[in-house]
Amino acid sequence: MNLIKVKDYEEMSNRACEYLVKKIHELDNPVLGLATGSTPEGLYKRLIEKYNSDEVSFKGVTTFNLDEYVGLSKEDPQSYHYYMMDKFFNHIGDISSENIHLPNGTAEDLEQECKDYEVLIRKAGHVDIQVLGIGKNGHIGFNEPGTPFTSRTHVVELDESTRQANSRFFDSMDDVPKQAISMGIETIMESKEIILLVSGEGKAEALARLLETDAETTEDFPASVLRKHNHVTIIADEASRLK
Ligand code: GLP
Repeated sequence: MNLIKVKDYEEMSNRACEYLVKKIHELDNPVLGLATGSTPEGLYKRLIEKYNSDEVSFKGVTTFNLDEYVGLSKEDPQSYHYYMMDKFFNHIGDISSENIHLPNGTAEDLEQECKDYEVLIRKAGHVDIQVLGIGKNGHIGFNEPGTPFTSRTHVVELDESTRQANSRFFDSMDDVPKQAISMGIETIMESKEIILLVSGEGKAEALARLLETDAETTEDFPASVLRKHNHVTIIADEASRLK
C-alpha cells in the first residue's frame, strides 16, 4: 500500500482530485467507484472546480457508488442518491445520467437489486479506480466487521456504532436506517485501483490498525483486506496519523 501523507483535509482533497483527474485523462471511458460521507466532500468540490475551469470532462465517464440506505428514496435528503446529486452530479453538465449508478434502496426485491448491481458493474468492465473512506470500526462501504471477504453486493445490517456515527445527518437516531445495500468486499477488491481517503483524529486508530505491519488481515477489521490488493493508495492527513 502506498501512503501519501498530507497536511490537512484541503490537501487530501486536492491530491485526491489531481489523482482522479489524471486517471480520467489517461483512460478511455473510465469507470469510477465513488463514496459518500464527509470525507470525499472536498474532493467533489475540487472536481467541480476543475470541471468549471475546463480542466476535466466527464463525457464517457461511468460511476458506481458503494452503497445506499435501505428504505430511503432518491428524493430523501438523507439518501446517498440525494447526496451525490447535490454535492456532485448536479454540477457536472457533461456526464450522462444513464452512466450514474447507485444501488436502489427502495427496490421491491432488494436481493435482485444487489444481483443487478453486480451485473451492471461487470458489464461496465469493472471499476477502474475506487474512492474509499473508512469507518472508525474499519468498515469500507457499509461492510461491517464480520463481513466475509468473499461478499458481493448485499443487504447489510448496520452496526449500532455506524448508525450512531451517521446519526449526525439525521433528525434523530430513530430516523437512521438499520439496513443498507453495499458493494461487497470482493466487489470492491475487483477494482483495478483503490484510493482510500483518511482525515481527522477520529480515524487515527483505524488507520494505525490498517498500517500496522504485523497486524492480522481479518474479517473483524474489513479495511485490512486492502493489504491483499496490489494497487492501493492511501491519502491521509496529519490529524489521522497517530504520533
Ligand atoms: C459511511 C459510509 C462509508 C464511509 C464511512 C466514513 O457510513 N457508508 O462509505 O466511507 O462511513 O464516513 P465519513 O467519511 O463521514 O467519516
